[in-house]
Order: sequence, then C-alpha cells, then structure tokens
Amino acid sequence: MIIAQLSDTHVCAEGVKAYERVATNDMLAAAVDHLNALVPRPQVVIATGDLCHSGAKEEYAALRSLFAPLAMPVFLIPGNHDDRAELVSAFPEHDYLPQDGGFLHYVVEGYPLRLIALDTVIPGEAGGRMCKDRLTWLAERLAEGGGRPTLVFMHHPPFLTGIGHMDEIGLEGAEEFGRIVLRHPEIERIVSGHLHRPIQMRWRGTLASTAPSTAHQVVLDLGPCAAGFYNLEPPPARSTSSNLLRVWSATRATSAASPVPTGFPTEAAAERRSRLRRGPPSRTK
Ligand SMILES: [Fe+2]
Ligand SMILES: [Fe+2]
Repeated sequence: MIIAQLSDTHVCAEGVKAYERVATNDMLAAAVDHLNALVPRPQVVIATGDLCHSGAKEEYAALRSLFAPLAMPVFLIPGNHDDRAELVSAFPEHDYLPQDGGFLHYVVEGYPLRLIALDTVIPGEAGGRMCKDRLTWLAERLAEGGGRPTLVFMHHPPFLTGIGHMDEIGLEGAEEFGRIVLRHPEIERIVSGHLHRPIQMRWRGTLASTAPSTAHQVVLDLGPCAAGFYNLEPPPARSTSSNLLRVWSATRATSAASPVPTGFPTEAAAERRSRLRRGPPSRTK
C-alpha cells in the first residue's frame, strides 16, 4: 500500500498569493499532477492540515477544485489555519468527517494499514492540543483495533523539533498522548505537518515525523531564539511541492520524499513509464 502525504497546502482564494508572494494554489496543482502521474499510484492521500491559508469559504472552494483531479481518495484533517465548519461544509461527500460540529477525528478502515486521523486544533490559536476528550477518543479507537498495524496522522507534531518559534506553537498534552502511544506498538508511524519541513524522530516506541509544505518551507534554524522565517527551497519554487510517500507492506513501512520534478525523463525512463502504464502484455497461447 502506498500512502501519499500532502501537508500545509495553505490554499488561498483564486488569484490570491499567500503572504502576497507564494503561489500556493499553483504549487498544490503541481503536486496533484505529480501524484496522478506516479507509477504505481498511491492508493490514498492524507492531507495533514493547514489546508487553507485563513479558513475562508472561498479558499475551501479553491481547495475543492484543486483536489478534484486527484485520482485517489484524499482524507482531510484541519490545522491551525483551518476552520472546521468551513472545511466540513465544502466537502459534504467526505462522510468520514464528523458532522456534529466537534473534533474532526476519525478512523479509516478497509486498507492494509488502519488510519487514525486526529484533530489537534484550538480555534483561534496557532498551537495545538490533545485534550482529555481527544485522548479518550484515541484510546478507545486504538483499543478497538485489535493490534492491527496503524498509522496516526495529525497536524501538530507531538515532539519538539528544536526550531524555537515552531516549538512555541507545538502540541499541548503531548506527554499524555505519548503514554497512550507507548501502550500501542501497532502504531507504525505518527505523521504530522505544521513544521513545513521534513523532520523525523524516534518517539514513544514509534517513528514520528513532520512533512514539508507543498509551498513555502520553514527555515531550519535550531537556535533557541529562532524567529519565524519562510523560504522557497530549493529554487525554482515549483520543485518544493513535495509529497511524502509512505509505503506499507505486511512486514515493513518506509517513507520517501517525492518532490515535484522540474527535470525531464531520459528516453529509457519515458519508455519504461509508458510500458508500465499500458500494464502487463496480454498472454496468448
Ligand atoms: Fe502551515
Ligand atoms: Fe500549522
């Protein structure tokens, strides 16, 4: 099973750029094209929050249009830039999203890897939280899983990264969350966003990671006084539209970054790709 992660897409209203300079919508469009062209294709996409830049209705309309060409299902969770109500109302056919106005957490069954989506949002705040109610919900869902291999995804990472200004808007309740995770070795990975940068850490018996944004990245500044600073790396900006691919087989899970390429295939690569797209040759007697 291949799972693609898209994070921190920060979609804006049509024709608007984030911070008046980042064409986040164009970058997400490139990432979607890239996922559709992969051979083999991922079975699902998880979009780990900060889907839209300010949580406005017109931004979710743009997000809906940008996700429409995706050839595989996408599962959404909110980040601190999102608005739960606008998100739910923009995607009425995404019936895995709870409709009760509460937390947008859910379980996806039916794949070799069980997916548990968490909602870490505190409305109006940049940091996140796993409160008592959310922790209880998670513990109950894990108990129901019977030890099946599980991937947990959430916007705010549960670990400190060393990037000062991001750690200040990290996750409250991480210690309590970690105690639950420790009891469940079936958790193969905890994947999150928020950091706009790929970082991995062994954490509470599993591997926890953050993902790059499909758009702007947070500068890697590990000083205690690190201040907020974004960049577009590496140039040209389109190549920063990264996806992370999680490959799961019965015995192993691997992760790989898959940047949207700006290069070109060799003749042999193009031929191989078109051969794989045609599928195996039909057998004749
Ligand atoms: Fe973000
Ligand atoms: Fe965030």
